[in-house]
Amino acid sequence: MEQPTVRLRPASPQDSDFFLRLRNDPVSRANSITQDEIDPQIHRDWFARSLERDDRRMYVCELHGQPCGTVRADLAADGSYELSWVTAPEFRGKGIGTAMVRTMVATLKGKVTARTKESAAASVRIAESVGFARQRVENGVINWERECP
Ligand SMILES: CC(C)(COP(=O)(O)OP(=O)(O)OC[C@H]1O[C@@H](n2cnc3c(N)ncnc32)[C@H](O)[C@@H]1OP(=O)(O)O)[C@@H](O)C(=O)NCCC(=O)NCCS
Repeated sequence: MEQPTVRLRPASPQDSDFFLRLRNDPVSRANSITQDEIDPQIHRDWFARSLERDDRRMYVCELHGQPCGTVRADLAADGSYELSWVTAPEFRGKGIGTAMVRTMVATLKGKVTARTKESAAASVRIAESVGFARQRVENGVINWERECP
């Protein structure tokens, strides 16, 4: 698939509703490790606190200035980053998820990890294309790892 040129910009308070829409989308929920629908007020509090955290980086992915996905990197105790990603339903299947995760990984150094359900075919493909290696599978969840120079 041809790689679209995407841009990542740090999330800001105005992006809260976009993050909630993508998180609560039924396909996102089915493919997420925690599947509950998130209450809007709980989300707003979580989002505001997340923006303040030094150990969390959240980005909005844009294609031609249009928000089309989000990616998050959480710093773990061992200094590695765990990535999670989601694209907006109307932008799926166009190579954006792959381009977004590839762009994010290029900004990181050291160990980068991700977890995807075995059944989440598109996310498994993204992890493979972006150079993550499968570590182990636990309860249907694949743990991925990649070293970034
Ligand atoms: C997973 C997700 C981010 C993929 O985004 P996307 O922009 O559609 O991804 P791409 O278009 O780059 O496709 C990635 C690969 O998956 C394949 N793919 C896309 N949709 C697919 C589907 N429904 N079933 C199987 N494969 C699919 C593509 O063909 C591509 O494979 P290729 O590299 O061999 O060509 C998006 O579907 C999503 O947000 N899903 C819900 C949330 C989620 O699963 N998050 C994962 C938790 S980390």
